This record gives sequence, structure tokens and C-alpha cells, in this order.
Amino acid sequence: MSTNNAMSTTTTPMTLVDWMKHCQARIEVALTEFLPSPDQVPTHLHEAMRYAVLDGGKRVRPLLVFAAAQLVDADDAGLLRAACAVEMIHAYSLVHDDMPCMDNDALRRGKPTVHVRYGEATALLVGDALQSQAFMILANGANAPARQLRIVQLLAQASGSAGMCGGQAIDLISVGVDLTREQLEHMHQLKTGALLRASVLMGALCGQKPDGQELSHIELAALNRYASAIGLAFQVVDDILDATADSISLGKTAGKDAANHKPTYVSILGLDASRILAEQLRLQAHGALTVFSPSAHSNSTTWRLAQLADFIVQRSA
Ligand code: IPE
Ligand code: IPE
Ligand code: MG
Ligand code: MG
Ligand code: MG
Repeated sequence: MSTNNAMSTTTTPMTLVDWMKHCQARIEVALTEFLPSPDQVPTHLHEAMRYAVLDGGKRVRPLLVFAAAQLVDADDAGLLRAACAVEMIHAYSLVHDDMPCMDNDALRRGKPTVHVRYGEATALLVGDALQSQAFMILANGANAPARQLRIVQLLAQASGSAGMCGGQAIDLISVGVDLTREQLEHMHQLKTGALLRASVLMGALCGQKPDGQELSHIELAALNRYASAIGLAFQVVDDILDATADSISLGKTAGKDAANHKPTYVSILGLDASRILAEQLRLQAHGALTVFSPSAHSNSTTWRLAQLADFIVQRSA
């Protein structure tokens, strides 16, 4: 079964939950294959890399790659490479985010964090090695060279100082600081939004439209608007959940933002205004998709993107 919607009008399309489970299972298999074998030396590093990546996480970024790829005729092998590459960068960002020099967290995805289980030096190397592995997976991909290069550029930009690392740097120097709303939005767009945005664009670049054309500038701009909205919404909801959910449901330590004096949407706007903002961003994301089809229904190529916008805002973990 492909990752695409059941587009036929004669079959009932999968529910979002079933589609997510189906994609998550395929991602797990691909990640297992793309990671170095635990039998290969240095075995402790490879074991720790697999511990960081496998068997946990919602896989939202790969799901966005798959959902965006429904706009194009994408080859499954190329899609899985893009999906796994962005998930490896994300997993590396979590390993480093949890280290004592950053957020100092002991729980991630319901398990002890990598530095708790394997030590700080190994955790540092796990992040480094996952980053290299992500780009190796893309370098070995078989998409048309110009599109593959663009995919590499997108992921590199979203991961580096203009993206996730830049956002994390701002996060660290903002502890105990009263950021303005604009500064907070900028930080969130970089530290979390950038990789989510890249996931959407990478998926859309994994193929051409069914008529053989590339996505137009107008369509790419609409995808960008969609991706910026859900990218920001994702971190707004992460901030809300940190303040309202419990550690067991989250699989990570709840209440850490306040304990670490982090500026968040909750600390700056309060809970109610943060929830309103998340809902506004969800609607903005839906609005951006109207460029592709008048409404988000099950035979639309943007249906899964629309559903993922809802999931990102309405999730409880
Ligand atoms: C958590 O990301 C870190 C942020 C960028 C907010 P996720 O909520 O996607 O974490 P996993 O992958 O499901 O564990
Ligand atoms: C992390 O943001 C963003 C990353 C780049 C990993 P948080 O520090 O809020 O993520 P959690 O709450 O620990 O997952
Ligand atoms: Mg952090
Ligand atoms: Mg953290
Ligand atoms: Mg958080």
C-alpha cells in the first residue's frame, strides 16, 4: 500500500488515525534500515543512535513529508529518505536539547534521555552522527538531481543557524528574559517551525504534479504559508502542553519551561490567549490550502495536510 490517500471514490479512505499508524509503521522500518547496525563498531554509539531514534515519537515531520507529497507523483523510496532524514535531524535536536547544558531533562519519549542512559559524551556524538546520517540518506537518494539538491538545501537551512540551531541559541540566551511577542515568535519559528516547514516543502519536492509540471510559485507560496502556520502552532501547543499536561502523557517532564524560566507563549500571553492563537494558526493553515482546492475533503490532495493541521493543534501529547 502506498503512502497516498485512497483517492478512489469507490473505497473508503483511511481515517487519519489509521493513515498515521500505517505511515508510522513504514517510517519505523525505514529508520531501522537507515541507521547503522548495532553490531557494527563502535557498537555503543550505534546502539545509542538507535535508542534515540527508534520506537517512540509521533513522527509528525515524516507525516508532513508524506502528506505534502500527495500534491505530486512521488516515488516511495525518495519519500522515505526525505521522511527519515528530517526525523533523524529532529531526533538529534531532542538528544542535544535534553542535555544538562541545555534543558537538562531526564525523560524523553517515555524513556530515560540519551545522556542519562549512555553518558553525555555519547549523547553529543549521537546528535552529531545522526545529523551526518540524515544527509547521507539524502545524498544517496534517487530523486531528479536538481530536486534532490533543493531538498538537501532545505534541510540544511532548516537545521542550522538560520533554523533549529539558531532558535535553540536564542532559547538559551533568553532564559529569564522578557521577550517581546515578536522575539518569541521568531525564536519559535526557528527552533521548531523551520524543520516542520522544511518537512512540508521536502515532501512537495519529491515529485512533479500528475500533469508533469513542477509546483507553481503560487502553490509553493501557499505551502509556505501553511507550513509557517503549523510550525508556529506546533510550538505554541508544545508550550501549552508543558504547562497543562502530565509527564506520563507527554513522555517528557511536564512543567519544565516554568522550572527553567523559559519564555513561552504561556508565560508571555497566558494559557487562554495561547489557545486562541493556536486555533487562529490552525485556521490560517487551512486558509492557505484553499489555493489547491476549494475545500479540504477526502478526495483532495491537501486533505492529509488539513488533517495534520488539526492534529497538531488538537493533540494531547
Ligand atoms: C518535541 O517535538 C520538541 C519540539 C520541537 C517542540 P515532538 O513533539 O514532535 O516530539 P516527538 O518526536 O513526538 O517525541
Ligand atoms: C525544543 O523545544 C525544540 C528543539 C529544537 C528540540 P523544547 O525544549 O520546548 O522541546 P521539549 O519540550 O523539550 O520537547
Ligand atoms: Mg529546549
Ligand atoms: Mg526541552
Ligand atoms: Mg517544550
